[in-house]
Amino acid sequence: MKHELKVMITEAEINQALDKMAEKINRDYQGVDSLLVVGLLKGSVLVMSDLVRRLDGNVHLDFMTASSYGAGTESSGDVKIVMDLARSINGRHVLIVEDIIDTGRTLSKVCALLKTRNPASLEVASFLDKPSRRVVDVPVKYVGVEIPDEFVVGYGLDYDEAYRQLPYIATVLNP
Ligand code: PRP
Ligand code: MN
Ligand code: MG
Repeated sequence: MKHELKVMITEAEINQALDKMAEKINRDYQGVDSLLVVGLLKGSVLVMSDLVRRLDGNVHLDFMTASSYGAGTESSGDVKIVMDLARSINGRHVLIVEDIIDTGRTLSKVCALLKTRNPASLEVASFLDKPSRRVVDVPVKYVGVEIPDEFVVGYGLDYDEAYRQLPYIATVLNP
């Protein structure tokens, strides 16, 4: 079935939000010798790529795949590390990048795990935030756009793996 999509956040609006996020991040990490940006696959790929090209200084990248969704449509909280980081984060300034924070379960598990590895600092940047859906409290220092509880796709976000490549964010009218 073909889905009907309605644009919620345009490419221009995404770029504006990214500029603001990057400005804050650049200000906060001024003087830090190196920043390790960790993208959670797969959803973060587009925001990761667009955000890091706006960052100043010595930026390193790493990736992690954490799967939390079982058969259902909501994250279970049983977060499995499908692919771990390539390198140690001991003593590093780490910034996790996400496409969206929904219940908070994924990020809370990933943050708890990464904290045990003794980073110098650990913060989260999420392009979208759906605060009304939060089940677990996670401190998200950098947010692009706060959205209501609607099913959204595009800009990394999928519906059954489709639509991740869209350069805008849309709601699915007939899910
Ligand atoms: C989605 C999204 C976030 C997470 C948010 O990832 O990309 O990572 O769910 O949900 P939560 O706050 O309720 O945990 P998903 O597990 O669908 O994997 P994906 O990134 O590969 O799409
Ligand atoms: Mn994800
Ligand atoms: Mg997904």
